[in-house]
This record gives sequence, C-alpha cells and structure tokens, in this order.
Amino acid sequence: MKDFINIALPKGRLGEKVYDMFERAGYPCPSIRENNRKLIFENSDACVRYFWVKPSDVAIYVERGAADIGVAGKDILLEYEPDIYELLDLDLGKCRMAVASKSDFRDNTDKTLRVATKFVNITKKYYAGKSREIDVVKLNGSIEIAPILGLSDVIVDIVETGTTLKENNLKVFETIVPISARLIANKSSYKFKADKIADIREKLSKQVIKND
Ligand code: PRP
Repeated sequence: MKDFINIALPKGRLGEKVYDMFERAGYPCPSIRENNRKLIFENSDACVRYFWVKPSDVAIYVERGAADIGVAGKDILLEYEPDIYELLDLDLGKCRMAVASKSDFRDNTDKTLRVATKFVNITKKYYAGKSREIDVVKLNGSIEIAPILGLSDVIVDIVETGTTLKENNLKVFETIVPISARLIANKSSYKFKADKIADIREKLSKQVIKND
C-alpha cells in the first residue's frame, strides 16, 4: 500500500499561496483548483492528500496526527504551543504581533493595564516579561474596537498592512514578534515518514522567496 502524506492547509488566501508552493515543489493535486466546496483532495501519483481546515485548527490536526504535516501561522504556534515540530519558515503571510492603541494613549504604570486580545497567552507572557500587571479582555475578533469604546487601554493583535489600525485612528506602540507561516510536522509522522517529510521540506525550502 502506498504511504500517503496527509497535509493540512489553512483555508483562505494564505492557503492558496501555500498550495502553489507545494505544487511548485513537485506535489501537485490539480483537483484542488476545481471550484467547489470539497475539503479533501488527493493525488495518488504524488501520494499526497491535502485538506483545507480553519487556519487556527491546522496545528490541532497535526498535533493529533490527523495530518502528518501542515502549515500554520507562528501566532498560533506561540499562542497554543502545540507539541509538534516546526520544520521551515515559508516566509508567507508575513505580519507582526503588536501592541496598539489610540494615538493619544499614555501608559500609566501605577494602574493595571487593560489589554484586549485574541492571543491571551502571548499577551500574558509578553507583559510578565516586563513585570507589568494586566487585565486581559479576551475577544474573538474586531479587536480594534476595544480601545475606541473604552473596553481596554490597548490591544495585542496582528498587524499586516496597518490599514485596519489607520482606519480606526489607532497606532502601533510596540512590536512583540514578527509572524509568518511555518511548515509543521506531527512528531511520530516525522519519525515514521521521515524520508518523505524530509524530501518535502527540502523541496519547499527551495521555493521560499525571502523578502526582508
Ligand atoms: C486581522 C487582525 C487585524 C487585521 C490586520 O484580522 O486581527 O484586524 O487582520 O490587518 P491589516 O493590518 O492589513 O489591516 P482578521 O482579518 O484575521 O479578522 P478578525 O478581526 O476577526 O481577527
């Protein structure tokens, strides 16, 4: 029986770029380009099976072995610390995790800082490192509204082009960490499908275009 590699791709714009990279690396699966709502695609010649999952779920599929490898944002890896191997920086989906607020914000260090974010663990770790006391307000999206409505003093969120901040009269005060898409592998797949995963990693690395 052929040993397929199961690959979890982040559904959406980033996922399409990631798939293009796999295709250029020699792992095509033409049916994936058909315009339908299927989620699983395979190419038995190349022995690859791709599936589209919610970007924040890729690491779960890989950690639990439902996927051998996948592509996840560094933000998700830092936030959830899944037990996986990080194999390669694909240099796609580049953005940064940053602290932002209204442009007139001034930090009063005598007070607990109220921070709205989706990334609770990254936020707690960052402020613990600065010995700054915070009150985390966990939100699920549209984080930028929080300081405008007085729900928080600052936000910790992803900034890509900066347009969302600008259009809401907010600005970046600190950059926490740069983010990009990473190739990740399940730990046991990495052992038992070592040759194939090493081959994919090697071929993908040749497709990475560094844009610093
Ligand atoms: C992300 C992030 C910002 C926006 C930043 O939101 O939370 O809102 O993108 O991009 P920009 O700097 O290019 O404007 P996403 O689209 O993931 O949705 P969300 O608001 O639900 O988190």
